[in-house]
Amino acid sequence: MEFTVAIDGPAAAGKGTIARALAEKFGFAYLDTGLLYRAVAAKGGDPVQAAVDLTAQDLGRDDLRSLAAGQAASRVAAIPDVRSALTDFQRRYARTAGGAILDGRDIGTVICPKAEVKLYVTSSAEVRAKRRWREVGGDLAQVLAELRERDARDMGRADAPLRPAEDAVLIDTTDMTIEQAVALASVAVRARLPERTIP
Ligand code: C5P
Repeated sequence: MEFTVAIDGPAAAGKGTIARALAEKFGFAYLDTGLLYRAVAAKGGDPVQAAVDLTAQDLGRDDLRSLAAGQAASRVAAIPDVRSALTDFQRRYARTAGGAILDGRDIGTVICPKAEVKLYVTSSAEVRAKRRWREVGGDLAQVLAELRERDARDMGRADAPLRPAEDAVLIDTTDMTIEQAVALASVAVRARLPERTIP
């Protein structure tokens, strides 16, 4: 069975948490596509060449999760040739036998416009900043400012800007628990799964 779940939304909205829970529940493969852009930026040198040469090993670096790596990722992600160098890999991954979940910014709009399920996960910038701040520490006001800056860059770029696909299910996690958000996402997946495969 080929079955793609596309999850998009801004940083720290809960995409990864929802994606991992769905992957576990339904037995889908999971790709965090933000990691590709983080690894391209961390590799250094010419970003387009870094994207072309990206290896599985590059994705295993332990310095990819920092705020700085996220900011650097969003800068290289605005370069169209970087995005196109990463497209085929993501599209192939999306057709993994048994189903796949990809989360990012342009999965439902550009990478997998025919995905069986599209979710757009968001929440207020303040709530997202607090979540990120709990993970990374530092100064909350600065975490919020950086998050807003990254949102603006991701939503404002010319190529594949962050926006909900027209047919995406919107999940605003501002006043939700993780369990509530996962339950809503699961309903959307179940509604599209062929009946004999529902766990
Ligand atoms: O999701 P994450 O915070 O790891 O993404 C880092 C950056 O990579 C984002 O701010 C965005 O600029 C870029 N990105 C993207 N398209 C994706 C995934 C991430 O442009 N599909």
